[in-house]
Amino acid sequence: MSTRTLGLVASAAGGLERIRSSLVEPAIARGWRVAVTLTPTAGTWLEANGERTRIEQVTGLPCRVAPRLPDESSPHPPIDCYLVCPASANTVAKMALGLADNQALTTVCEAIGSRVVPVVVFPRINAAHARHPAWDSHIGALQRAGVHLLLGEDYWPLHEPRSAPGKDLPWGKILDTIDRIVPAHGGPSSTD
Ligand SMILES: Cc1cc2nc3c(=O)[nH]c(=O)nc-3n(C[C@H](O)[C@H](O)[C@H](O)COP(=O)(O)O)c2cc1C
Repeated sequence: MSTRTLGLVASAAGGLERIRSSLVEPAIARGWRVAVTLTPTAGTWLEANGERTRIEQVTGLPCRVAPRLPDESSPHPPIDCYLVCPASANTVAKMALGLADNQALTTVCEAIGSRVVPVVVFPRINAAHARHPAWDSHIGALQRAGVHLLLGEDYWPLHEPRSAPGKDLPWGKILDTIDRIVPAHGGPSSTD
């Protein structure tokens, strides 16, 4: 059995409510151990609908939201691949700028700078987010840092705010990508 560990970081964007059924459980079925960290707003959303507890039950690990105390050790094991999904426009911008003002961003910003563990990001954004004058610069900064950005029509066609056609996230394609970057046997792939 593989011991790959996925560090799933989720923010307050569409699809968040489905991460257990559509991402965490299928990843476990593919042989990943999954350690989940939520932004504070995402934590509020999943606390309100009971999903935070259910995620902890299926992963067997605490679902992190708040930072640990200085004398506490991390409750999560070492990570083989980070997946930020769904990534809000806000969280993408903060990652690009290195703003680590919550536990989720602290973890991912360190991983981006360390360049040891691959970081995959699925921005769940709309056309207005993409037209923000700083967006292209954020995406460029993350790409230059080696972040795997899942962008474009194949992943998420952009729609104007409040006009998206109720489309589900491409969960299977996202899982296929992390499987390709960190295969079940062996370390991170250098081909993607
Ligand atoms: C119901 C609802 C849905 C939202 N969906 C999105 C979304 O799909 N993408 C996005 O970038 N922001 C979305 N937002 C806005 C973010 O939740 C907001 O910018 C928040 O500050 C993000 O915080 P976080 O990045 O720390 O999780 C949504 C807000 C609400 C209330």
